[in-house]
Amino acid sequence: MFFTATLSTLFLLGVLPSTAREHRGHISVVLLGATGDLAKKYLWEGLFQLYLDEVSSGHTFTFYGGAQAELEPGQKLMFERLKRLTCPSDVVPDRCAILKDQFLRLTQYHQLKTAEGYAALSEEISTMLSQEGLAEAGRLFYFSVPPFAYAEIARHINGSCRPPPGAWLRVVLEKPFGRDLKSAQQLAEELRTFFREEEMYRVDHYLGKQAVAHILPFRDQNRHHLDPIWNRHHVERVEIVLKETVDVKNRTSFYEEYGVIRDVHQNHLTEALMFLTMELPANVSSSEDVLHSKLRTFQSLRGLDKRSAVIGQYETYGSHVREELQKGPNYFSRTPTFAGVLIHLESLRWDGVPFLLTSGKVLDERIGYVRVLFRKRAFCTQNETARGSASSPCRRKQIVFYIGHGELNSPAVLVSRNLFKPVMPEGSWKAVSDRPRLRLFGQPLSDYYTYLPVKERDPYAVLISRIFHGKKESFITTENLLASWEFWSPLLDSLAGELPRPYPGGPQNQHLLDFEMVGGEVSFVVKEALKMMGASDEQMPDQYKTLHSRFRQNQLVTAWPEELIDRLASDMEAAATSAVERAGQFHLALSGGSSPLALFKRLAAHHYGFPWKHTHLWLVDERCVPLTDPESNFRNLHDHLLQHVRVPYFNIHPMPVHLNRRLCVEGDKGPELYAGEIAALVTNSSFDLVLLGVGIDGHTASLFPQSLVGLEGSPGVVLTESPAKPHQRMTLSLPLINRAKRVSVLVMGKSKHDIVTLVSRVGQEPKKWPISGVNPSSGHIAWYVDYEALFG
Ligand code: BG6
Repeated sequence: MFFTATLSTLFLLGVLPSTAREHRGHISVVLLGATGDLAKKYLWEGLFQLYLDEVSSGHTFTFYGGAQAELEPGQKLMFERLKRLTCPSDVVPDRCAILKDQFLRLTQYHQLKTAEGYAALSEEISTMLSQEGLAEAGRLFYFSVPPFAYAEIARHINGSCRPPPGAWLRVVLEKPFGRDLKSAQQLAEELRTFFREEEMYRVDHYLGKQAVAHILPFRDQNRHHLDPIWNRHHVERVEIVLKETVDVKNRTSFYEEYGVIRDVHQNHLTEALMFLTMELPANVSSSEDVLHSKLRTFQSLRGLDKRSAVIGQYETYGSHVREELQKGPNYFSRTPTFAGVLIHLESLRWDGVPFLLTSGKVLDERIGYVRVLFRKRAFCTQNETARGSASSPCRRKQIVFYIGHGELNSPAVLVSRNLFKPVMPEGSWKAVSDRPRLRLFGQPLSDYYTYLPVKERDPYAVLISRIFHGKKESFITTENLLASWEFWSPLLDSLAGELPRPYPGGPQNQHLLDFEMVGGEVSFVVKEALKMMGASDEQMPDQYKTLHSRFRQNQLVTAWPEELIDRLASDMEAAATSAVERAGQFHLALSGGSSPLALFKRLAAHHYGFPWKHTHLWLVDERCVPLTDPESNFRNLHDHLLQHVRVPYFNIHPMPVHLNRRLCVEGDKGPELYAGEIAALVTNSSFDLVLLGVGIDGHTASLFPQSLVGLEGSPGVVLTESPAKPHQRMTLSLPLINRAKRVSVLVMGKSKHDIVTLVSRVGQEPKKWPISGVNPSSGHIAWYVDYEALFG
């Protein structure tokens, strides 16, 4: 039977330093969820390691395991685990036994369920300290509990367990920290009412993995070699990968809510991505500098949508869910257990470099790595066999932060010998070269400078030690967390309705999950998975059908949104090409709003043949805000299209809403200026193509119902008032729009169904529905309406 000694006994036993020796203060560590899975697997071992590391530091410790179970059963369960604690190999067995015994004596179980339980624990800590005459250095609470329990526990700790002034409080939180931006914000708000930011340590255990934790120091210590090559001119692509062979049996209640992207990409893989891509702060051990740089990097990530990812689900996942969550036989889950995501950064350093973040369960091997592949710049004149040594520029060049498992079965840093010999900290990493038959990433180990940790450490032990030392750079701050969710949430939303590709698992997956990048998007290499997996033709989604018909006596194209956008983009490219062939230039006027954004992205990512060099871009309408404002149509055009294509600067014509440091003031004559510019550059003021949208009230451009402004008169540009904010607008007038050679009207989404139905029936009544007045006098009009807008 285990017993808990008083601290006095331990002084006598010589476990604790006497007050005569320098005492640096007492630390109470409370592990909440002390009998749970994580505690059993890693946390007790980590706390024991902390004790081993710090036993001679002059600090004294007590450890409390807390859980909901009553004293006796809880204590039994907890000590059963503690009996199995082990020491690292560098601690001799006798010493290990003594230290383990001490650790057990310093550890107690507490039932922590109610406010009283927490108050009693705090009372006990204070009484013990005053009895022993010990100064308090700090209290550490490790939350190894489900997030729904966070708020209540936080309230209790804040209410009764804060240490006296002068001693620190540190609370350690485990993911999940929300399941999207909104829920993460809520949780963060809640926690903020109880704890200060500096008191919270959010754990991402990948930051404790030695290879991941070494990315920044490696970049720092090898600046000299990396500075010239750590950029888009040299890096061909980056792979950040966590492959697992396990399934999620017994975890489906968590997994079904989260799925692989929330479980792994949003946190572990994203953090590795940040370390790799952030601009190196001058001081990489300053947590503020690192955070600052990381946040800037988040800002430079290009937004994702469903074409940025491929998703899969192992075939038996559904039956695991049905069984464990007691779902009926017809329950069908769309939760992905595999995802490959393509990420781009919009920064001068990384523009165009693909970052592939991949993770999945039930794959063929367990392995984790961050692999930077460099471009092969040399043209090698010798034949393959003569290319020779590992330092030859003709061999592959790569740097790999090997997280673990796989053939090497250890964390490692690998640098191709034809790159440079890296500087590695001697005490903690050692060079190895004694694995003659081992091949990694297509090359023999001898092609790399290879370094393994001198002492392999469990990530939890690493992180617990960092918490103890108050090193915040290895933890996720609130800002960091929210920035990550802000980046991932749109992708998660857009994937919510998608069917993951089923895969059998393990080696049988063959090439089913291989994916490829084309034009900034990813897709599976083997396209016919549904067929391969035995789906009948009726089950195939009919999303590839595009219907052609008439709408208001004009051409109508209708399809699912993606196909509709593809079609409109292709039609625009065709119109541009023929205008350039005919007249040497193409004048395109674009509307604002949200529908065209997908079109802009499509044009940017797929239409390499578009004659941008000869295209003039005009605005159909603009909001009276500065062009840098997120509400500005020009700003959106810039963010989603202009910055990705090469339109000559002098061909870009934003509307002059901001003149003389004021917005849309009549006296500044912005509309006249714009109309003059159009007249000067566009023959007969007749655009080659005008892209319009339709509002739910029937407005188009910024021409609103019940106003005559801009509906009649000379073909000019006018200021109008919108019922919605920002109210003031500048817009092409209806007569100017109707001079166009071609008008394309894009309408998408269910909310537009009513107006589409109405407009299909009415004649020309622009005062009531300005869109009905669009009728190019000698041009062509085509309607691009998606199924939801058309059929509701
Ligand atoms: C956890 C995920 O955060 O990381 C698990 O919830 C995943 O699903 C695990 O298996 C991977 O961690 P490791 O340390 O085994 O690579």
